[in-house]
Amino acid sequence: MSDVYLNGRFMPMAQAQVPVMDRGFIFGDGVYEVIPVYHRIPLALGRHLDRLARSLAGVRIANPLSRADWEALVGELIAREAAPDQSIYLHITRGVAPRDHAFPQDTTPTVFAMAKPMAPPPAPWLTDGIKAVTHEDFRWLKCDLKTTALLANILLRQLAVDAGATECLLIRDGYLTEGAASNVLVVVDGILLAPPRNHLLLPGITYDLVLEIAARHGIPFEERPVTEAELRRASEIMMTSSTREIVPITMLDGQPVGNGRPGPVSQKLLSLYQEQKRP
Ligand code: PDD
Repeated sequence: MSDVYLNGRFMPMAQAQVPVMDRGFIFGDGVYEVIPVYHRIPLALGRHLDRLARSLAGVRIANPLSRADWEALVGELIAREAAPDQSIYLHITRGVAPRDHAFPQDTTPTVFAMAKPMAPPPAPWLTDGIKAVTHEDFRWLKCDLKTTALLANILLRQLAVDAGATECLLIRDGYLTEGAASNVLVVVDGILLAPPRNHLLLPGITYDLVLEIAARHGIPFEERPVTEAELRRASEIMMTSSTREIVPITMLDGQPVGNGRPGPVSQKLLSLYQEQKRP
C-alpha cells in the first residue's frame, strides 16, 4: 500500500491518525470523492473535482485546497501508487472540535486522501450479471451530496448481501432512485431510462459518461422518472459507478430481468466505455 496523505503530508497508513474529536468520527460530518484512474490517468478528474466542490459547498465546508492543489495532490497520489489502474479516495471533514452539533468557529478541515489498486469487476459479474434486491429508500433528502455519513447506504447494501445479492435498488414513493452505492439505469421498450438528476440521487460521473456515450452512438435514451413497475418489467437493468463501471443486473428480487442474461444495451455500453478508458 502506498503512503496516504493526511493534512499536507504523506505517511504510511498506520501513522495516519485523526483525533477522536474529529467531526468526521463524531458526526460523519464530511464529504468524499472516488476517482478512477486508468493507465495512471484519472478519468473525468475535472467532473469529480467539480462534484467535490459542490458537496463541500452543500455542507458549508470551505474548500480547503485550490483546484490546482487538488490536481497536484491527485497527481502525487497516482505517482506514488505502483498499480497503473487505481482508485483515488479524497475525504474532507469539518475538522476537530469539542462535540457540539452547531459548526465550530475557525476549525481547519481535515483532509485525507489515498490511492489503491483498482481491480476490474469480477468476470462473472459481466458474463452472468449480478443479483439485486429492492428496498424502500430511507435516506435523507440531500442524496445529491457525496457525504461520508453513509449509514443508510450501508444498511441498505447489507440487506442485499444478507439476501445473497450484490446491490440494493432503492425505491422512493414508487420511483427508482439509485443503488446503495451506484446509479441504476434500465431499458424499457428499447429505451435506456435514467432517473433524473435531482436531490434524491447522486449525480454519478459514470452515469453522465454512459448517457454521453449513448448520445454519441445513437442509443435511444431518456432522463426521466422510472416507476417501480417499469423497473420490474425492464428488459435490462444495470448499475454504474466509478469503481464498478457498468454491471448488468440479471436477477431482481429473485426474478430474472428480461431473459436473465446480460442484455445488448448494457453490453454495448460496456464495450464503448472500455474504449473511453484507453489513454
Ligand atoms: N460510490 N450513487 C451512490 C449512492 C454512490 O455511492 C455512487 C458511487 C454512485 C456512482 O457515482 P460515480 O459514477 O460518480 O462513481 C451513485 C462510490 C464509488 C463509493 O462510495 O465508493
